[in-house]
Amino acid sequence: MRRRRSTSPAVADASPPGGLAYRQAEAESKEIRGFLAREWPAADRDVFGPDGLDWTSRPVVVEARDGGELVAVAVGEVVAGTARLGDILVARSQRGGGVGGRLLELFCERAAVAGAARCYLRCPDTPRHRRFYQRHGFVRIARLPRYYHGKDFLEYLREPLLSPPSRRERHDRGGR
Ligand SMILES: CC(C)(COP(=O)(O)OP(=O)(O)OC[C@H]1O[C@@H](n2cnc3c(N)ncnc32)[C@H](O)[C@@H]1OP(=O)(O)O)[C@@H](O)C(=O)NCCC(=O)NCCS
Repeated sequence: MRRRRSTSPAVADASPPGGLAYRQAEAESKEIRGFLAREWPAADRDVFGPDGLDWTSRPVVVEARDGGELVAVAVGEVVAGTARLGDILVARSQRGGGVGGRLLELFCERAAVAGAARCYLRCPDTPRHRRFYQRHGFVRIARLPRYYHGKDFLEYLREPLLSPPSRRERHDRGGR
């Protein structure tokens, strides 16, 4: 689950004359982006082997509207064959009626189209969250103690992302 985050401004420290200097820096400055783009390919080769790996982030965003009004969204991305669901939020007045479940399934479908074979997500460790994700085929793979503001979170994985159609669904489509 993603949260709005505020970032702290850069803090300038006096650099010693010569030698290494350490300081807090601007997030995502042009120079830092250039450094990452230059250095990552060689570091990736050490881990993944061949060159030319695709690290493009493909956003996956699905929404539900009721009479035109936005009532639910699921926001995430697909990178390197894996989807991560960052946010899923249903308007309070619409919860418990199946909107979140349908949106979660749609998110997985769209993530699969964008190249994902699996989906990860993090959620607070509550009975309701556990029920919701387990019902939709997610399996708990880790506990994250005191993850946000001292509250335990869980990491869930759904793989394969799309389950094969059930016998009933095949029958309904006229198959065997
Ligand atoms: C979690 C959430 C996306 C589910 O969507 P939904 O439309 O309410 O869910 P559905 O109707 O498809 O399924 C109902 C199940 O959702 C879960 N659920 C319902 N309300 C919930 C809530 N306020 N918080 C967490 N889970 C909830 C329960 O498991 C419920 O099953 P139950 O009836 O056995 O308790 C939605 O409740 C929500 O937006 N909650 C607040 C934000 C949040 O916790 N997002 C997930 C962060 S990882």
